[in-house]
Amino acid sequence: MIRALLLTALAAVASVAHAATPALMPMPAKVELSTGKLAIDGTFGVTVLAGNQIEITGPGISVPRLNRVVEQSLARVARQTGIFLAPGTKAATLRIECSPCSVTTPSLEEDESYYLDVYPSGARIQASTADGVIHGLETFLQLIQPGPDGFQVPAVHIEDWPRFAWRGLMIDASRHFIPLEVIKRNLDAMAAVKLNVFHWHLSDDQGFRAESRLFPKLQQLGSDGLFYTQAQMREVVSYASDRGIRVVPEFDIPGHTLSWFPGYPELAAAAGPFEIGRRFGVFDPVLDPSREEVYTFLDSFIGEMAALFPDPYFHIGGDEVNGKAWKQSEAVQAFAKQHGFKDTLAIQTYFNQRIQKILQKYGKTMIGWDEILGPDLPPDTVVQSWRGQESLAEAATKGYRGILSAGYYLDHGRPAAYHYGIDPLGGPAAQLTPEQAKRVLGGEACMWAELVDAETVDSRVWPRAAAIAERLWSPREIADLDSMYARLEAVSRLLEFAGVTHRASYQPMLDRLAGDRKAEPLRILADASEARGLGTGRRAHQTDTPLNRFVDAARLESESVRGLELTARRVAAAKPPDAADMASLRAQFSQWAANDARFQPLAEDNALLAEVKPLSKDLSALGVAGLRILDSLETSQPLPDDWMANETREIARLQRPSAEVLLAAVRPVKILFDELSRRK
Ligand code: ACM
Repeated sequence: MIRALLLTALAAVASVAHAATPALMPMPAKVELSTGKLAIDGTFGVTVLAGNQIEITGPGISVPRLNRVVEQSLARVARQTGIFLAPGTKAATLRIECSPCSVTTPSLEEDESYYLDVYPSGARIQASTADGVIHGLETFLQLIQPGPDGFQVPAVHIEDWPRFAWRGLMIDASRHFIPLEVIKRNLDAMAAVKLNVFHWHLSDDQGFRAESRLFPKLQQLGSDGLFYTQAQMREVVSYASDRGIRVVPEFDIPGHTLSWFPGYPELAAAAGPFEIGRRFGVFDPVLDPSREEVYTFLDSFIGEMAALFPDPYFHIGGDEVNGKAWKQSEAVQAFAKQHGFKDTLAIQTYFNQRIQKILQKYGKTMIGWDEILGPDLPPDTVVQSWRGQESLAEAATKGYRGILSAGYYLDHGRPAAYHYGIDPLGGPAAQLTPEQAKRVLGGEACMWAELVDAETVDSRVWPRAAAIAERLWSPREIADLDSMYARLEAVSRLLEFAGVTHRASYQPMLDRLAGDRKAEPLRILADASEARGLGTGRRAHQTDTPLNRFVDAARLESESVRGLELTARRVAAAKPPDAADMASLRAQFSQWAANDARFQPLAEDNALLAEVKPLSKDLSALGVAGLRILDSLETSQPLPDDWMANETREIARLQRPSAEVLLAAVRPVKILFDELSRRK
């Protein structure tokens, strides 16, 4: 509805993200601030006008959902502000107009756009679907800030719609089980940044996490008792729907199926007995594509799961089939010969085609990882690009729809800026024709769970997934990194009120490491450090390896170090440097310099902290060096050549991970050191 009207507004978009704009993320397509503000107090209330009638009945009108959405938003207003909202009749502070409001569940094709108008006298959200309303409400919640007279929302006119229709977060619940309440709070956080697809990776080598009533040995023997009941899966679907989120289940086949085999060894193209995977990587045993019984089993199983998950898209995985089991199986080799299949890919293509027919029978469209992009792939298949952006462009060129995950792997532990810089229509996809580009539906952030569990998953998803959410929602021109980080830090705090514990879990994890000793020196070290991820300096061992180390407590990106980098850049650029900037750097470097003497007693006789003792020494040495560099910059007295040469080596050494963390603190010191070297 609104989309057509707003295309002309695109030109104005680039100028949106200036300092006066509130810290919205994703940044809306169009924001016009005006003067004045709407007060948020205990009388705050919402009225809903749906389907052109206040009366909330009528065929197809999704108002029960809308009512729950409004209740959730009121609860969030109360949590965010600490204000007790008056029970019973309230002021109509915010009026929601949803028309025709006929969509009852979130869908890929629907109109998610909304208008939000805030005046001193009240606010209004207009949308044509409940999902548009949900997005408008989340924007409204982000606008609530304390002001001179109490909590308030600035007067503003917002027109907003997503750039991509598929904006997902995948959570792997197999490598480590992710309990229901953790899934739910992540759905709340997803809604807060307008992500609209929860891709639930429900089975893999290390665990089969969905209850099957037809094949109960799947979860009984494949999950160590850690699985979701059917009632819980339905609950997640409905919880997600109330937040404008589709749920796409993934049952990864024919590979990554080790957890299926303890219960049903006859499905495997290898001899048993089988055990759930305890280590990580690619295992050889996979499903046997040559046996009809396997398809009969999958037909029943998919039918059972299809009934639990109403979304038309159903993910079959399809990744990382190494073909070894098929090559070693006489039955599979005979089958391949009979059909003229030359290689593993040809066998897997056959398998996919069989699965696609089963999915079709249950009204489902197939989605799979980019390995499924073989010959004769059914045309409506969606390809999820993970091995590189090329496969997305290739899929679109060949007529397939696709989503991007290459570059959005949260488990790699890269900075938000890295993910933010990757665009579904960038790289090879930049060459697509407009027609082909339309097949790029969006993208998904992926949280693989080798190195996360219920306690740490939030801090590995958030806040970085919010930067990906902005890349997928906001106009492409919204790309300024300083603006992104400033808003990311604000939204990170707000996400705590949505329920995720990425910030709240930090201190308790440090306290656990410190035991009955005061954790403060450890916190100073952790603030100066950044955890590495899979493939970027961290190794994954096995599923029962405790995730209770310093690296698990440390954040993936240090806000405080980022602040120091900004200060260091200002100091490097100004002559003379600002006195307050110098003082704040000096204070931080002094604290680091003194920290090791406080840290070493804390770490004494503590096996968990032994690995970071050298890191603590490095931080203190860095503090000492930083102070010396500041002195030299201030007095213009150069430092000795041998000291400079030694420090060059030290900085290079400190840029490499130690104990699977990076000493992020090196970055501001390096900025100052490079400036000093330049001035010499
Ligand atoms: C994948 O990361 N194996 C899809």
